[in-house]
Amino acid sequence: MSARGGAVEFSGKVALVTGAANGIGAGVARRLAAAGASVVVADVDDVQGKAVADEVNGVFVHCDVSDPRQSEVAVATAVERFGGLDFAVLNAGIGTGFGLGDDFDAERYRKVMGINLDGVVYGVHAALAALKKRGGGRIVATASMAGLMAMPMDPLYGANKAAVVGLVRGLGPVLAADGVTVNAVCPSFADTAIITGFKATLESAGMPVMSVDDVVDAFVAVLRDGKAGECWFVQAGRPSAPFTFPNPPGPRTATGERVALGRDPLITKEN
Ligand SMILES: NC(=O)c1ccc[n+]([C@@H]2O[C@H](COP(=O)([O-])OP(=O)(O)OC[C@H]3O[C@@H](n4cnc5c(N)ncnc54)[C@H](O)[C@@H]3O)[C@@H](O)[C@H]2O)c1
Repeated sequence: MSARGGAVEFSGKVALVTGAANGIGAGVARRLAAAGASVVVADVDDVQGKAVADEVNGVFVHCDVSDPRQSEVAVATAVERFGGLDFAVLNAGIGTGFGLGDDFDAERYRKVMGINLDGVVYGVHAALAALKKRGGGRIVATASMAGLMAMPMDPLYGANKAAVVGLVRGLGPVLAADGVTVNAVCPSFADTAIITGFKATLESAGMPVMSVDDVVDAFVAVLRDGKAGECWFVQAGRPSAPFTFPNPPGPRTATGERVALGRDPLITKEN
């Protein structure tokens, strides 16, 4: 069990991690358990999921995140087995691998949106009541650097990850009112099964591939320091931090003056 970043103490915390049978999710599960948390490992990969759960003294639950009922079962498992829920790490995701031309596959399109976007929506919805019952908690969704920039090599993946970024930014101030902090972690390429098909291409282009532990460091930092709606980038050779979004142009009057906006508490910046 990796104890990297062991200065952080999660004793007494209960965490649900989706997509935790492999890759980044398994790394998060191991790190949280090493720091004292009780972990529910949720995944469709029963064999690896049970192995990770055993390794971290946690509990495995079969959960296809694209089915809202299965997200509810995963949260209920945390409550029943460990008495509540403090962290929901909504990490399950798959690559897309096709475009919108002759290679478009409508069935697979629904599947990737169902996992990469709906899975986060259903996970947030399922977790909220349990998090509020504890007086607050944290939700961290795994987006991607692909959600912060144009992604010509996989535009549909870029689209569903950008949607997760938009969801997290919009939900941030809403959930903060209930003591629930929601964040996204946006990694660049990391060494997991999801990049197997193009890892050699990345390496031959000189693109660094991060270790899972590098990415898990960012999750730990976000679980400790993330503020409402922040989306943290994870990039090789740089410390992770909240990504700074440029302000879009705000409205002006016909004579070019700034429009005085109402007192909507969710409008946080004037442009
Ligand atoms: N590895 C990277 O380069 C990279 C970069 C940016 C973002 N991400 C994101 O990180 C997250 C984790 O991916 P990874 O790189 O660890 O890949 P991975 O393939 O190693 O792990 C993904 C896990 O999700 C599980 N999963 C797939 N479909 C599921 C479903 N319907 N319900 C529940 N679990 C399901 C898989 O069984 C697997 O255990 C994903 O959201 C991915 O998009 C990865």
